Amino acid sequence: MQNRVQELIKSRVSLAPMAGITDYVLRSLVRTYSSDALLTTEMISSEFLAQNVETDITKSDTNHHPIVYQICGHKPHLMKFSAQYLSQFADMIDINMGCPVNKVVKGQDGSALMRNPELAADLVMAVKDGTDKPVSVKFRLGYTQDEMNYVAFGQKMQEAGAEFITIHARTRAQFYSGNADWKKIKVLKDNVDIPVFANGDVVSIDSAIQCLEQSGADGVAIGRGILGDPTLIHRIAHYLKTGERLLPPNLFEKLDIMKKHLDMEIQLRGEKVGIKFFRKLYPFYISGIKNASKIRGVLVLEENYQKILEIIDYIKNEQS
Ligand SMILES: Cc1cc2nc3c(=O)[nH]c(=O)nc-3n(C[C@H](O)[C@H](O)[C@H](O)COP(=O)(O)O)c2cc1C
Repeated sequence: MQNRVQELIKSRVSLAPMAGITDYVLRSLVRTYSSDALLTTEMISSEFLAQNVETDITKSDTNHHPIVYQICGHKPHLMKFSAQYLSQFADMIDINMGCPVNKVVKGQDGSALMRNPELAADLVMAVKDGTDKPVSVKFRLGYTQDEMNYVAFGQKMQEAGAEFITIHARTRAQFYSGNADWKKIKVLKDNVDIPVFANGDVVSIDSAIQCLEQSGADGVAIGRGILGDPTLIHRIAHYLKTGERLLPPNLFEKLDIMKKHLDMEIQLRGEKVGIKFFRKLYPFYISGIKNASKIRGVLVLEENYQKILEIIDYIKNEQS
């Protein structure tokens, strides 16, 4: 059974799920550089899915495989239903046990499950009941600094039938503050038999190497590091396979990728919505350029596509 997971994670790098970011477009963009990295969707609420199966979350291309669909929730029957439905699209079903957001943990979802390992194990079993695809879990070190139960929690998820773990090396209480504590992952890795991917603050080839050394993990999951550089996952996977360091895109290449990303969002969502959606992404592509904050201020207000292209040309001229 483990062989099928090994096949899915063979690139040793995955795209971590990010709500509002790892949409169809971003997954496609990452895939243009990396043919075999494991992609993950944004989390899908099982409560929502039970009411609306006609969601564009399932929009995918055949080359998106291997792909994980991540679900969240706390009701076993809805999680089972979601797994059943998503199985036709997914190579693996992941359960979100790490989301720290207040609204989510109040509903007992996300990282609240780390305080309720019995329910978390029931969810794994329910999801397994709904799918014959491998089931994985994504969680944190614990809820607070004083409740770092990630080792026992991981063991329990494994006993319940989880076949793969992604662990974000922070507690729920930390949200995204401080540094991810990769060394702690080693204890989990030494105490479970299923593969573990380390997550948190991997933003370069060097940080991936350090993270793998400190955690002993089987691979790394990358979230925010791909913002502004969708080549990162491929560059890390390529390094792990060959030892060769591919260079990150230079400013001009980044601007070209930004335009491609914007065009793809517009194609997916229409011009008006696509341009609005993209506002949160400009800062990552233009960070480091001359007058970045001034230009960012202009870009995020601009609604006209032609004007945006003019600003991109202006940036290129100013930097050369
Ligand atoms: C905007 C945003 C949205 C996120 N959405 C999800 C999500 O839907 N499911 C999930 O398990 N984690 C989610 N995360 C957490 C990431 O998957 C990842 O665990 C975290 O960002 C740490 O990794 P990084 O330092 O590589 O970004 C999100 C993070 C961010 C910044």
